[in-house]
Amino acid sequence: MTTILDVQQLFVHFSTSGKVIRAVDGIDISIKRSETLAIIGESGSGKSVLGLALLGLLPANCTVDGIVQYRGADLLTLPENELEMIRGSKIAWVPQNPAGAMNPSMTVGSQIGEPISLHVEKNRTTVRKKVLELLQFIRITPPEERIDSYPYSFSGGMLQRSLIAMGIAGLPELLIADEPTKGIDIMNKQAVSALLQILRKKGITLLVITHDLAFARNLADRIAVMYSGRIMEIRERKSFFDGPLHPYARGMLRSLPENGLHPISGRTRESDKYDGGCRFRFRCTYAIERCKVEPPLIALPEGAAVRCWLYD
Ligand SMILES: Nc1ncnc2c1ncn2[C@@H]1O[C@H](COP(=O)(O)OP(=O)(O)OP(=O)(O)O)[C@@H](O)[C@H]1O
Ligand SMILES: [Mg+2]
Repeated sequence: MTTILDVQQLFVHFSTSGKVIRAVDGIDISIKRSETLAIIGESGSGKSVLGLALLGLLPANCTVDGIVQYRGADLLTLPENELEMIRGSKIAWVPQNPAGAMNPSMTVGSQIGEPISLHVEKNRTTVRKKVLELLQFIRITPPEERIDSYPYSFSGGMLQRSLIAMGIAGLPELLIADEPTKGIDIMNKQAVSALLQILRKKGITLLVITHDLAFARNLADRIAVMYSGRIMEIRERKSFFDGPLHPYARGMLRSLPENGLHPISGRTRESDKYDGGCRFRFRCTYAIERCKVEPPLIALPEGAAVRCWLYD
């Protein structure tokens, strides 16, 4: 499979109140065409910042460094107008928090229609027809009644699905969705999962950011585990869930209800306290002297990799 997006040595550092927060701290990851890659990791590990960085959507109080290679261009150095064309038409972003992401003063239909009229079709009647089709596709029915509704009248799950519809309206080849199942009930989770499955089968490349392991397990081809701004493990989905390698990843799975709810003890160190060692070693039951030096991402067979000396 060809690579659609290639991220090399990506760093995003925020400067706030005299501290430097190393939200993303040297990420290398490539996404293959038509694959679904799930990025999992605890709160604050840098998942959203990574997603936002890929599309140049970060606020001004940070420095971004690295390369994000897409179709022969580095997205990090593209002029804003060219990036604007790629956002929505080629790569779409579905943000975390659907309620805050929609404009409350515009109808849902006109918001879903915006990327269509920007990137696909100008004729207003055709745009409306396409929006109706999308509403039907995301099971918001009857579409003729819902198209002119405002976001306040939608449930969280309906808003989440509408955001996905907005994302795919411009016919992107890559959809990046940040926590698409967060804060919605089980029925809506299943609906979002089914919707993304359909997109996956249509060949759209998906980068899904989530801390919902069951959701990742259902959907993804590969799993990347993030911890403290770093990738700790990248594996094929089945091998990962059959036997995660990194002690952090093992701990994540052990903390699931079906595995006995054993939480990982300790807390993540603040990123300004990094000392050049493995960032997980203070919480790791396998930590040895050698872990005072941070391991690289160690390549394993079948494209897998793990950042832990246990596998050196
Ligand atoms: N605008 C910002 N200014 C300063 N620090 C920020 C900003 N945005 C994010 N951060 C910091 O960057 C780190 C990574 O945040 P991020 O939102 O990417 O985490 P996350 O993995 O998406 O967490 P969650 O699962 O809770 O969504 C955190 O320490 C966060 O406080
Ligand atoms: Mg997030």
